[in-house]
Amino acid sequence: MREDIKEILLTTESLAQKIKELGHNISRDYKGKDLVLIGILKGSVMFMADLMKEITIPCSMDFMAVSSYGSSTTSSGVVRILKDLDFEIEGKDVLIVEDIIDSGITLKYLMEYLKARKANSLEIVCLLTKPERRKVQIDVRYTGFTVPDEFLVGYGLDYAEKYRNLPYIGILKEEVYK
Ligand code: IMP
Ligand code: MG
Repeated sequence: MREDIKEILLTTESLAQKIKELGHNISRDYKGKDLVLIGILKGSVMFMADLMKEITIPCSMDFMAVSSYGSSTTSSGVVRILKDLDFEIEGKDVLIVEDIIDSGITLKYLMEYLKARKANSLEIVCLLTKPERRKVQIDVRYTGFTVPDEFLVGYGLDYAEKYRNLPYIGILKEEVYK
């Protein structure tokens, strides 16, 4: 697996350090609120688990699964809900937990979809963002790292469902997907 990785972009230690900071800021900002973290399956699973452990105020979790049609390395703009929330979010302070924002289309669609559910607040925390690739504008409350326009894998991020188990984030060699 390691031989498919061109370069390690974010080490286990740097991820842990950043997630600690994010958890600290979220705990401070959401004190006294009814915080619900909504993880977007499956890419956000590692981030969600580690972030939640760094949050020191009461919070609950839920998950959604979406698929966006397109090739395996780009998203097409058509989003389909595969798994909806288990719980109502009306009156709650919702934080969507996403692995990476690329075109922004998935999150834009999800935000519109969830707005109808009358949450008290609806915000986004993403671990990674690729601003060069943005096609639609979205407001992100908390961002971990700004990353270059390369295909990344590890720490939840996949290529064709593989590499999610790498404990760091690496740049996938082009010959693997081209
Ligand atoms: P968007 O709708 O184009 O913003 O796509 C976001 C989704 O595409 C993310 O949740 C990931 O699942 C996937 N994605 C975007 N960039 C990468 C990458 O570099 N590696 C792995 N998955 C990615
Ligand atoms: Mg994803």
